[in-house]
Amino acid sequence: MTHSPFLTVQNVSHVFGKKQQVLANLSFALPAGGFTALVGPSGVGKSTLVRLLGGLLRPSSGHIHYANQPDGQPPSIGLMFQKDNLMPWRTAYENVRLPLEVLGMAGQEVDTAVNEMLALVGLSGFEHNYPAQLSGGMAQRVALARALVHRPTLLLLDEPFGALDALTRERMGQELLRIWAALPVTVFMVTHSIQEAVLLADEVMVIGGQPATIRERIHIRLPRPRTIAMEGSIEFQQCAGAVRQAIEAINGE
Ligand SMILES: Nc1ncnc2c1ncn2[C@@H]1O[C@H](COP(=O)(O)OP(=O)(O)OP(=O)(O)O)[C@@H](O)[C@H]1O
Ligand SMILES: [Mg+2]
Repeated sequence: MTHSPFLTVQNVSHVFGKKQQVLANLSFALPAGGFTALVGPSGVGKSTLVRLLGGLLRPSSGHIHYANQPDGQPPSIGLMFQKDNLMPWRTAYENVRLPLEVLGMAGQEVDTAVNEMLALVGLSGFEHNYPAQLSGGMAQRVALARALVHRPTLLLLDEPFGALDALTRERMGQELLRIWAALPVTVFMVTHSIQEAVLLADEVMVIGGQPATIRERIHIRLPRPRTIAMEGSIEFQQCAGAVRQAIEAINGE
């Protein structure tokens, strides 16, 4: 991981309609190749921030600057949400291929890219299964492969494992770390789980308030590769405690 910023958010505010201000004056940077987690109460503006970072929404004021991009132009992004949003009439392979079709790619390079990504997420052998023939965890793996198949430089995850059971979720977190380590990609992940945020990320950002501001940025110094056993460490407990305290302070306002 390098420490040069991949993107820089400067004084970004967002207002929906005429006066519903959701985000106020956010400034932060995401390190290139880093893993940042975002937590905060429901409805605070986390998904709005994801959309701003991905260039799907323009900030009402302020700037988002992406390194090595013409100013204001977002880089190639991969997106993944709580719901897998797979097309039920397409196989796993055909779902993963979709972004490449949209980009107008065809032929052998498409086949290679799709198969490489399916292998990376651990789904070789399930290419021809339809979504209804996959478990929830497998469907999320397909969604992750689809988000990454065009090799985006920024991966935006909005509660990607929120619909999974606790054990599958833990496993998927570990898988995500393995995949992230194998790719040159900067990750920004929204999660409701403090445990997940601390175990996966380099930094946990807490936002709160109406409009939301950054309340805390907690640097996680746990070594990598991270393992679930690290949840028992003092560093983990201290970080999780700091995140919880920040959230409780917001809830107590
Ligand atoms: N397109 C939109 N038009 C108007 N208001 C919106 C729009 N999108 C979001 N909002 C409002 O902005 C606020 C923040 O929404 P957002 O979805 O970003 O919250 P969130 O933190 O992701 O919530 P959750 O944890 O429940 O997913 C909410 O009050 C929501 O109603
Ligand atoms: Mg949301």
